[in-house]
Amino acid sequence: MAALPNKKSVQPKKEQVEEMFDNISHRYDLLNHLLSANIDKIWRRNAIRKLKKSQPKTILDIATGTGDFAIAATKIKNTEITGIDISEGMLDVGRKKIARKGLTDIIKLQKADSENLPFENDLFDAAIVGFGVRNFENLEKGLTEILRVLKPEGVFYVLEFSKPQKTPFKQFYKFYFTKILPLVGRMVSKDTNAYTYLPESVNEFPAGERFLTILADVGFTENRCFPQTFGIASIYEAHKTKN
Ligand SMILES: C[S@@+](CC[C@H](N)C(=O)[O-])C[C@H]1O[C@@H](n2cnc3c(N)ncnc32)[C@H](O)[C@@H]1O
Repeated sequence: MAALPNKKSVQPKKEQVEEMFDNISHRYDLLNHLLSANIDKIWRRNAIRKLKKSQPKTILDIATGTGDFAIAATKIKNTEITGIDISEGMLDVGRKKIARKGLTDIIKLQKADSENLPFENDLFDAAIVGFGVRNFENLEKGLTEILRVLKPEGVFYVLEFSKPQKTPFKQFYKFYFTKILPLVGRMVSKDTNAYTYLPESVNEFPAGERFLTILADVGFTENRCFPQTFGIASIYEAHKTKN
């Protein structure tokens, strides 16, 4: 069965995910950096360093949340960034953060669904998703939409959790992710489900080779995976072909 934020609810996954992120939006940044000891910032930076090579002028940040990936992408000069998310609560926190950092001319946030993007075909030079694809209700549909709005020869980067494979880190990570993280997450966020859903959704996500196959099935080419920090997370690179 698919990992769901609230197993007792009969709501579709998308509505549950939206509600959960609305609920934790004010604690999301704190918990994100606390629970990952700030390593998440390094991963976003690594992905943006790769993206920078293609010098995109327009970037779509899907599942932007509170905007951290979009903010990291401002390291690329002369670019316009559009961030979309289904959670108005996360976007609200993001808008305030972007204003505080003086980035409102570069980053625009709007409410939208990755599975039904309100953009014309072939619009963006690049697309990025940080810790978002795992939450899509229909992964293939979301990826197909992203491919549609990318320009031919556009590039796509996904940052997502994966599972370390090597002993003893694998065991240590499993203990941390399934025991410590849900406990701290629950205490700080006051949300009973969010940090139980996190390890469950990571466990279920088709990481590594399986995700590369899905990208290829959807129509992306030259797909590659770059594991980060013992394989806790992975950066995926994918391309849209020339017309
Ligand atoms: C873990 S947060 C990631 C936020 C940010 N990208 C980051 O790097 O921290 C996942 C986000 O995905 C969003 N999300 C989930 N499903 C979505 C969908 N179908 N369309 C747009 N956003 C979605 C959630 O609302 C949430 O804000």
